[in-house]
Amino acid sequence: MALVTISLDQLVDGKPATPEHARNWCARLESGDILFFPQSPIPFTADDLAFLRGQQQTDSSLHKNIAYKPNIDKLSGLDAKSANPADVERLHAIMRGYSQHVVSFLTGFLAPYRAQWRLDYASFRPLEEQNRDLPLRRRNDLLHTDAFPTRPTHGARILRFFNNVHPTRTRDWVVSDPFAQTVRQFAPAQIAPHPGTTTTRAGKSLARALGLGKAIPSIKRTPYDDFMMRFHNFLKENEQYQSHTARYPWQFPAGSSWMVYTDTVPHAVLAGQYAIEQTFLVEPQALVQPETSPLRILERLAGAPLI
Ligand SMILES: [Fe+2]
Repeated sequence: MALVTISLDQLVDGKPATPEHARNWCARLESGDILFFPQSPIPFTADDLAFLRGQQQTDSSLHKNIAYKPNIDKLSGLDAKSANPADVERLHAIMRGYSQHVVSFLTGFLAPYRAQWRLDYASFRPLEEQNRDLPLRRRNDLLHTDAFPTRPTHGARILRFFNNVHPTRTRDWVVSDPFAQTVRQFAPAQIAPHPGTTTTRAGKSLARALGLGKAIPSIKRTPYDDFMMRFHNFLKENEQYQSHTARYPWQFPAGSSWMVYTDTVPHAVLAGQYAIEQTFLVEPQALVQPETSPLRILERLAGAPLI
């Protein structure tokens, strides 16, 4: 895996210079590279940045991870009772604007996807990531691939676009080898389910073969979603994996942007404060090299469809 640095002067009106460039960048993302923009293509006003940086890590006002749901234009994750209504309104407007700018940029930049994605949440992360006291499965400083407990993707891939909006500090990540390598490292030979099993059985078999515990009950979750959720938990809980897998540190400077398929690239956030992010669920049919997707990798291992 690699960090692919893209400067804005490589773009023409915010878009790749040629269709080949666009396709290549999609392919790099899908195979587990990170696309890095030293200078963010997303505009922020000085006033908006000052407002975001003014949000302190207290329990008394705007706090924790604040989510913006673009499809219903709602903000959540803040303490509505103690937050100042004017601040809430301001944050709502900033998040709405951010989400719209990222969508507009990626509609051009990732043109081969033809916007075949489901727009997921945006989030604002005002807390210092170093030494956060969180339950193990919610810790950001342990390497993991992303899966959402309440929002199964049904095979769509999780693409996240980040901005470090801290005035001076880097956002410090560690990443590891992409999904294809990681899953094979832990997958035993007997992973393939028996021929003729149902897709549900195939998924259960797969999870059992990996020793990933009991099924997490959810009628809306496909075997693929079940596996991805268990794999997220398994990686965080696996000391052997955390201490012995390859670790590649990246420090994203203040003012930069980066994007990555976080269901493919194991990642951890070690330090940093003030990040903002928009998530996309990219449909399988939009991918330029679907064979590298976690869904296809797992289906090949399982020998059965998983969605
Ligand atoms: Fe994550």
